[in-house]
Amino acid sequence: MLDKARTAELTALLAWYRDVGVDQAVEDAPTDWLARGNLPPGHAFRASAEAAPQLPPREAVRATPTAPIPGAQTPQLAAPRRQFPAAVPDAAVMAARTAARDAATLEELGATLARFDGCSLKATAKNLCFYRGAPKARVMLIGEAPGRDEDLEGKPFVGRAGQLLDKMLAAVQLGESDVHITNIVYWRPPGNRTPTPQEAQVCRPFLERQIELVAPELIVLLGGAAAKHVLDVTDGIMRIRGKLRDIEIGSVRVRAIATLHPAYLLRTPAAKRLAWRDLLTLKSALGA
Ligand code: URA
Repeated sequence: MLDKARTAELTALLAWYRDVGVDQAVEDAPTDWLARGNLPPGHAFRASAEAAPQLPPREAVRATPTAPIPGAQTPQLAAPRRQFPAAVPDAAVMAARTAARDAATLEELGATLARFDGCSLKATAKNLCFYRGAPKARVMLIGEAPGRDEDLEGKPFVGRAGQLLDKMLAAVQLGESDVHITNIVYWRPPGNRTPTPQEAQVCRPFLERQIELVAPELIVLLGGAAAKHVLDVTDGIMRIRGKLRDIEIGSVRVRAIATLHPAYLLRTPAAKRLAWRDLLTLKSALGA
């Protein structure tokens, strides 16, 4: 029997897991984590020495060893913890830039992304989610990050939020063949958390190249995370949304508009009228 204090402790721990986004204890299919041996996720990624920031030598930061106390027992040292070091951030961004620049087509960009190990999200995701829709399109939609359904299928916006997005687009006469849909990161963040700025930054060179190759007339940013990242602003989505802006992203000048994320609209149906206004602005910008 658990006593009251222990029960409260365990309940608090579960609540914490839920709050940080852990919503699944087991998957449908077993994962053999041991098959990876003692290698960290992303271990195949090699940062170039030039790009890596110079760190002080380890000796410079190591504490001065103290003399052993006579008669004291030497403590048993535990085996070193398995470490999961992220790739050196600047080096990963530089490697992404080089890789993305060399992709001449979307297929090449997809293949390059599939090989790229510089984004730590890849380690926990099942599949790469590159894009769905047309390879060349007048409208490009950019969301936050793949969720569970997207991760399973390997395509962006295929879950409930995606179904609502399709209905919203259909309302302004846009179908799958008129749009190109992607996210600011290409792998599902664990527990559906918002991608970190670092994760989005590492994926950014691929997104910029993708925009160059799709050559859209208009970019629609879905939700605060995508809008803030692409527009490089800190305001909340309610302030950013609904305005057409001319932006420069990578080598491309393009019009962009931010709107509310379909997942937010599922939770807050009253906000759909704002999204509808944004869709009408999009429609008139397309001259439709
Ligand atoms: N939410 C997103 O931002 N992107 C997806 O692909 C799915 C849900």
